[in-house]
Amino acid sequence: MISSRYAAITGWGMAVPQRVVTNEELARRLTTTDEWIRSRTGIAQRYVAGPDEYTSVLASRAGRVALERAGLVPEAVDTLIVATCTPDRPFPATACTVQANLGIPRASAFDLVAACSGFVYGLTVATALVKSGMSQHLLLIAADVFTHLIDWQDRSTCVLFGDGAGAVTLQASSERRGLLSTNIGAWGEGEALMAVDAGGTRLPVTPELLAARRQYVSMNGREIFRHAVRGMVESAERAVAEAGLQLDEIALVVPHQANLRIIEAVAKRLGLPLERFFVNLDRYGNTSAASVPIALYEAVEQGRIAAGDYILLTAFGGGLTWGSSVVRWG
Ligand code: ACO
Repeated sequence: MISSRYAAITGWGMAVPQRVVTNEELARRLTTTDEWIRSRTGIAQRYVAGPDEYTSVLASRAGRVALERAGLVPEAVDTLIVATCTPDRPFPATACTVQANLGIPRASAFDLVAACSGFVYGLTVATALVKSGMSQHLLLIAADVFTHLIDWQDRSTCVLFGDGAGAVTLQASSERRGLLSTNIGAWGEGEALMAVDAGGTRLPVTPELLAARRQYVSMNGREIFRHAVRGMVESAERAVAEAGLQLDEIALVVPHQANLRIIEAVAKRLGLPLERFFVNLDRYGNTSAASVPIALYEAVEQGRIAAGDYILLTAFGGGLTWGSSVVRWG
């Protein structure tokens, strides 16, 4: 991207539901064990939303924190994007509900769907809007109540996911910071590898589909694993090269928190030590679009990112979709 106008990240926030579900609790309900879940995924617990903690509720909480951190009043926000694949309702957009909740008087508000890649896709679109001059102060939230799509009787998927929201504010800046390069992609032919079949216009829900549990996520775990590693590695290499950097100049990688073994494989393929990757999936599981901004929030709060650092965000999700972005913190 050639421009003297940048989109600095000036605020960050996160929110999770109240209730923690441990592996032990799942092992009491299903034929699984804490040992199996930890050794295959690295996950120890996840947060699961209650009935009053739907997507716009978590998104609004995370967005409010980000605005406070940035010192931005709601009146200043001109664009609000919510990346989610679990909206409150088919329409209106969850972003419109969040806009009302946060008291943002005038802004464009829309949802963006890229499953677990939602934040990286969202940051790409958001940065383009700010760099082009179409937005001055933008609020980007990624939020999913993915457990809504989970079949709690299916041990091969239900142990993997949790709920949450993460947010950032972007503001126009003349200093070289914010997103410097990005590489996003999709492979629609792989859509069936991870999907929710029923509930849309293609397969409206019927009693038969509900009985067959087609309203829930189905996933080919092994194939997703393979594509995830490749998508994240290849997009990361492209994004880093486009930023004019070498991989060893990246201070911290903030990856999608799906599975520790996926992160280990990505680290190995990129030739980077695992210590260079921020990992918090042990506490949250895979929170879909929210996973990268929740990890980013915690990395900043824990002092793992300093002003001027180059960080790499990388994600993979249903679609199939993937994306990596190089961000200069400041
Ligand atoms: N507890 C105990 N046993 C289980 C469990 C469980 N929770 N789940 C599956 N098993 C069993 C299977 O039934 C199978 O038994 P079998 O050999 O008798 O048939 C055995 O464990 C091995 O199953 P695999 O699927 O081969 O296990 P694998 O090592 O591949 O791990 C896993 C499965 C963890 C799902 C892995 O494939 C994975 O992480 N894939 C990526 C999934 C993912 O991250 N998806 C989301 C990314 S995209 C996004 O975030 C939207």
